[in-house]
Amino acid sequence: MIVLDANSSKPLYEQIKEYILRQIQSGTYVHGERIPSERSLSETLNVNRLTVKKALDELVQAGHLSVQIGKGTYVSQPKFDLQLETLTSFTEEMTRRGQRPSSRVLSAGVLPVTLADARKLSIPPGEPVVMLVRLRLADDVPMAIERLQFVASHCPGILDGHDFSRESLYEVLLHEYGVQLIRAEQSIEARRATSEESRLLEIMPNDPILDMTRVTYSTSGQRVEYTRSAYCGSRYKFQAVLKYNPTH
Ligand code: GLP
Repeated sequence: MIVLDANSSKPLYEQIKEYILRQIQSGTYVHGERIPSERSLSETLNVNRLTVKKALDELVQAGHLSVQIGKGTYVSQPKFDLQLETLTSFTEEMTRRGQRPSSRVLSAGVLPVTLADARKLSIPPGEPVVMLVRLRLADDVPMAIERLQFVASHCPGILDGHDFSRESLYEVLLHEYGVQLIRAEQSIEARRATSEESRLLEIMPNDPILDMTRVTYSTSGQRVEYTRSAYCGSRYKFQAVLKYNPTH
């Protein structure tokens, strides 16, 4: 039985936060696993449930815990460190980290490109593009929603013979169509999750999203891919190595 010190100058909710962080550090509460419910914690610690809620809310805000709607409060996984120097696919990134990649295909089809997206791909408006929207998962945990457009003339029939819930698009492009991707321009912006995104990513509405745009070039120098992805802000950290350039 843990006794919090009601006479301490430190508020009870702060003591509860420290207690929970100690449980995480000691491995009693395991990364990726659910912690006891508010009610159970309030009974164990013999404190008001609202006080426990305040402590949990602050630990969620700080990223130590995360709420999965309808499931409970979980100890956050250490963030996924994604290097920005190399052009890799989701499948490669996850495999390198020892995690099992998978996808849920939300929609797939070949459609005429819109005027705005045609500019991004430097193709005439109306040219057919493969549209593939996937929820990407690592060890069954949702990591990102990717909305991809790929110039269809480079990969005719790609949606017919492949199951992109388990296959890597980049691998199929290389091995079946000989499309080698060599360079990408990428930008990352912060925003809040929409309600649809929070449902798919199993995060709270309005949680942070890293909105990433990638335009990818093939060896012929043509732009072939334009993808807009919503990365779960609490599960990703992007890293880059910067070099001093005296001529800049
Ligand atoms: C990354 C990129 C996407 C790309 C995808 C391909 O996640 N951000 O732009 O389309 O990888 O992934 P895969 O080859 O695993 O299907």
